This record gives sequence, C-alpha cells and structure tokens, in this order.
Amino acid sequence: MKRMNRRTMLKTMGMVGCATGCLASGLLPGAVPFTGPLSGPGNAVAGTTSGRFAQKDAPFSWKPHVLDAKVCAHVAYDGYWHQGYGCAYGVFYAIVGMMGEQHGAPYNQFPFTMLEVGKSGISDWGTICGALLGAASAFALFWGRKERDPMVAELFRWYEQTAFPMHDPGAAFKGVAGALPTSVSHSPLCHVSVGRWCQASGFAEKSTERGERCARITADVATQAIAIMNAKQAGTFAVAHGDPASVTYCGECHNPGKQSPLLKGKMDCTPCHSGSPHTADKFKNHP
Ligand code: HEC
Ligand code: HEC
Repeated sequence: MKRMNRRTMLKTMGMVGCATGCLASGLLPGAVPFTGPLSGPGNAVAGTTSGRFAQKDAPFSWKPHVLDAKVCAHVAYDGYWHQGYGCAYGVFYAIVGMMGEQHGAPYNQFPFTMLEVGKSGISDWGTICGALLGAASAFALFWGRKERDPMVAELFRWYEQTAFPMHDPGAAFKGVAGALPTSVSHSPLCHVSVGRWCQASGFAEKSTERGERCARITADVATQAIAIMNAKQAGTFAVAHGDPASVTYCGECHNPGKQSPLLKGKMDCTPCHSGSPHTADKFKNHP
C-alpha cells in the first residue's frame, strides 16, 4: 500500500510525468543547467583524456587474449597461496597476470594486489566468493555491461550448480594432498559456499583442508572463466547454465512489473528462503 500511495502522491505533485522528460533533457525540476569549467571550450568530457570521469583508455577497451586454461589453473592455485593473497587475486592473476606474462603491457602494469580485497568474500565478510569477484573483474577490463552480464551469469550459475572442488594439484599441492569431499553451494556467496562445505565435510572453517578446498576452487573458477572468455573471443560463447526453478517461480510475482516487485538480484532463492532447518530461527530452542 505504501508503494501505491507514494506513486499516487508523486503523480498528484506532477512529478511522474516530469521524471522521464526532465531526466532525458538532463534537467531536474528546479535544477539550473550545469555550466561549470568541464563543459567549457578546450575542456574534455568523460571518456577522453582529461576532466572528471575521464580515464586513460576508452571504456572497457583492453584487448583480451586467448589463454590456456590448463596452464592458468595451476597459476590460480599457486596465486591463492602466494603471500596468502587468496581466491580473487589467484583468479585475476591467472587471467590478467598471464596475459601480462605473455603479452606485456598494459596487462603487466596492473596492481594485482588490489584483488587481495576479495579474499574471504571481501575482507573477511563472506559476501561474494572472491574467486567469482576476480573473474568478473577481469571480464570487465574487456567487456561492458551488455556483453559481460551474460558471461557473468553463465559463470555464477555454473558455480551455484557445481560440486566443488574439482581441481587436483597432485604433487604440487600446498595445503593437503589427495581427494577432498565436495559440496554444491547453490549460492555465489562465500558464506554459504564455505559453510555448506564445512557442514558436509566436517572440517572447520579455519582448517588447512578448507584453505585447500578454496585454493582448488580458485583453479576451478579460473578454468571456467577462461573457457568463457576464449569462447567469447571465438564468437562461440553460449549460455549453458539456465536459471534454477526458484528464480523463475518466485520471479513470477517478485520481478519488476509484477504484483510484489521487491526482488533485487539473480541468486538462487532456495538457500535463504526455503525455511530449511539450516535457516530456521536459531535464537530459540537452539543448542
Ligand atoms: C503468486 C505470487 C507469488 C509467488 C509465486 C511468490 N510470492 Fe512472495 N509474495 C507475494 C506477495 C503478494 C507478497 C506480499 C506482498 C508484498 O509485500 O509486496 C509476497 C511476500 C514475500 C516476502 C515478504 C513477506 C513474507 O511473507 O515473507 C518474501 C520474502 C517473499 N515473498 C519471497 C518469495 C519467494 C522466495 C518466492 C519463491 C519461493 C515467492 N516469494 C513466490 C507473491 C508471491
Ligand atoms: C543470501 C540469502 C538470500 C537469497 C539468495 C535471496 N534472498 Fe530474498 N531476502 C533475504 C533476506 C535476509 C531478506 C530480508 C528479510 C527481512 O526483511 O527480514 C530478503 C528479502 C526479500 C524480499 C523482500 C521482503 C522481505 O521480507 O524483506 C523478497 C520479496 C525476497 N527476498 C525474495 C527473494 C527471491 C525471489 C529470491 C531469489 C530470486 C531471493 N529473495 C534470494 C535473503 C535472501
């Protein structure tokens, strides 16, 4: 009801009609046209070499190169352990760092340690899996939103649906050797992905096995991301991992324009909204 009331109120105030037209002409009600120094003669606008929001290279303009996923998977695994920089760094280095090793600038100019922030779901917050952040960030060096979004969706859906870890470092292992238990996260979130694996495997979050698992997932995600990027460059990229049933079903009423248009995002709804024993109220009758 609140939403309806607000809309009705805006309409009454004459702002709904104005919103589209006024925004299109760059004006908001009461706004004065911007005549600052940036729009003056001789000053650059966004997208060129100087002025606000300008950047050195054109938007999303770095040129991608085809990579050998088999080689890069090992680099991703090692990158995870290197100085403890973690999953986002490992995946990003396996893509952009390897282009730098093979093609030089501009790839080798990137301050790769920036990606350490993605470790443990961004500075230990357990939000997005850093391996996914590293891959999506690498995509964004080469492709803008329209091209990139389907690539990200394909990678994230594959991640939601895949039993990890798959990569086997063999004798080059850095944490623990041999096979590890696997689990399907149904979520791109570090918190859910790690939590489910710890529950399924019996290993603690701060265990070498858990670290090894995430190092192997770093290699798995780099492999898949490179397959997507190589296919994109070859013109053969196609979406193979569709939406889970929950996204289609729940979206029937919660997507834009539907009866309860509150939904943000594309994640599988099931881990959080299924009322499973895992997500039930733990503040009551709990060990
Ligand atoms: C047939 C239409 C329909 C479908 C399908 C549907 N919803 Fe809803 N949902 C509603 C309506 C209507 C409301 C209440 C109206 C509002 O708050 O906008 C609501 C409310 C909610 C709420 C907030 C209040 C509450 O009851 O918890 C959540 C969370 C929610 N839905 C999640 C989901 C999820 C997850 C799914 C899929 C498993 C789903 N919905 C499927 C129509 C639907
Ligand atoms: C990572 C967990 C998570 C996932 C995945 C998730 N949700 Fe939610 N969702 C939440 C939480 C937490 C809230 C806030 C609940 C509250 O208001 O207490 C929320 C809020 C909502 C609301 C607004 C109403 C409300 O209760 O606040 C709707 C509708 C909703 N989710 C639907 C969905 C649908 C549909 C999907 C799948 C497409 C989905 N959610 C995926 C955790 C999740």
